[in-house]
Order: sequence, then structure tokens, then C-alpha cells
Amino acid sequence: MIITIDGPAAAGKGTLAGKLANKYNLAYFDTGMVYRAVGLEMILGGYEPSDAAIAEDFAKNLTFPRMIELSQNPIFRSLEGSKAASAVAAIIPVREALLQMQQNFSKRPVFADGTSAKGAIYDGRDTGTVVCPQADIKFFVTALPEVRAERRYKEYLQKGIASDYQEVLEQTIARDKNDFARPSSHPAKDAIIFDTSYLSIEEVFAKACKIIENYQKTLEK
Ligand code: DC
Repeated sequence: MIITIDGPAAAGKGTLAGKLANKYNLAYFDTGMVYRAVGLEMILGGYEPSDAAIAEDFAKNLTFPRMIELSQNPIFRSLEGSKAASAVAAIIPVREALLQMQQNFSKRPVFADGTSAKGAIYDGRDTGTVVCPQADIKFFVTALPEVRAERRYKEYLQKGIASDYQEVLEQTIARDKNDFARPSSHPAKDAIIFDTSYLSIEEVFAKACKIIENYQKTLEK
């Protein structure tokens, strides 16, 4: 079973994906990591993240182990890392170069320890439209920018990262503008949309579980 969860930053995709992966014993692919990895290669190499030719080169040479290695760097999930990821993700040849790696995972999904899984959950922006258009179930998780900025801001405070709510809001809006300029980031026609502005993660999780279990019942018939 392949499930995709797309939507903007800080909408709750990762939390939902983690809970579903755990409950249904599915491997999890956070596809933002491939763009964060290329973005970080650009930072570490001293390049402008918008330098298309260099970014494409890094994308073509990215491997799963290198991505995992880069994810240990504190810049990977930082604001600087997010900005670089968003910039490289806007370069079409970079997206094309990273597509195969993401699609291969659905053919042979594996858990973090390398053992094989019966299915996968993808989280990203275009996993239901481009990476896995054949997915069994597609979710699109969204929330108002103000709600998402508030969540990110609290997350930074908890991690002891100095930040300012207004600045986080502006960055959230700027990243949305960049990420959603691509039609592929919009919900797939067959996606089920959850707005987490007014729903708790537990409510969204319960709704998603119901949909998955109904789907599983149709397979048993
Ligand atoms: O989900 P995230 O914040 O880790 O993603 C980092 C960046 O990567 C984000 O700005 C958009 C981009 N991205 C994308 O374009 N397509 C995906 N499938 C996943 C992420």
C-alpha cells in the first residue's frame, strides 16, 4: 500500500505520516529531505542555492546514504537549510534528477534499519501528483499560514532557537509562494483534503485511519 501526504510546510504532514507509518507498519519517506540534502550541499560548497547547473549536478549525484549523512548536520532543518531547499526545489532539472530516487522507494520500501516493508508513506509537495500518482490513498494536509507560522515559532522556541513570530510568518508566506508556484504542488484531483487549522492532529489521524481501513476493506472483498 502506498499513501501520499502532501501540503505546505508546518501543516502537520510529518506528524500524521509518522503516526500512520507506525500504526500500519509502513516505511516512511520524507521527500523534503532530498531537496534539503541538495540545498545543504550548495551551502557547504559555498554556492548560491539558485545556481541551477551546480544544484543539478549535486542532485544527479545524491545517494540515499549521503542524504542520511547530510541530515545529521544542524543546518539541514534550520531556516537557512529550509530556504536553500526551497530554492533548489524550484529548479526543474533538480526535480527531474531527484525523481527516480523517490520513485524507487515505492518499488522496494524499507524501514530505517534497512528491512523491507509492505508499503510506504510519502510526505512532500508533489508525491500524489508526480512521484506516486498511482498511490492507493492521497491526503493533502493544509492550514492557514498564521496557524502554521505559530506552530513553527513554538517549535523554534522549544528547541531554543531565537526567532520572531512576525519573521516566521513572513518566511512561511514566502516559502508557500515559492513552493506553490508549481501546479504539481496543488492537491491531486483524487486527494482527500484536511485543514488542520481547526482540527487537532488526533482528529486528523482518526479520520485518516477510517479512510485507510475502509480502503483495506474494499481490497478484501
Ligand atoms: O517538507 P520540507 O519543508 O522538508 O521541504 C523542504 C523544501 O523542499 C520545501 O520548501 C519544498 C520542497 N519540496 C518539494 O518541492 N517537493 C517535495 N516533494 C518535498 C519538498
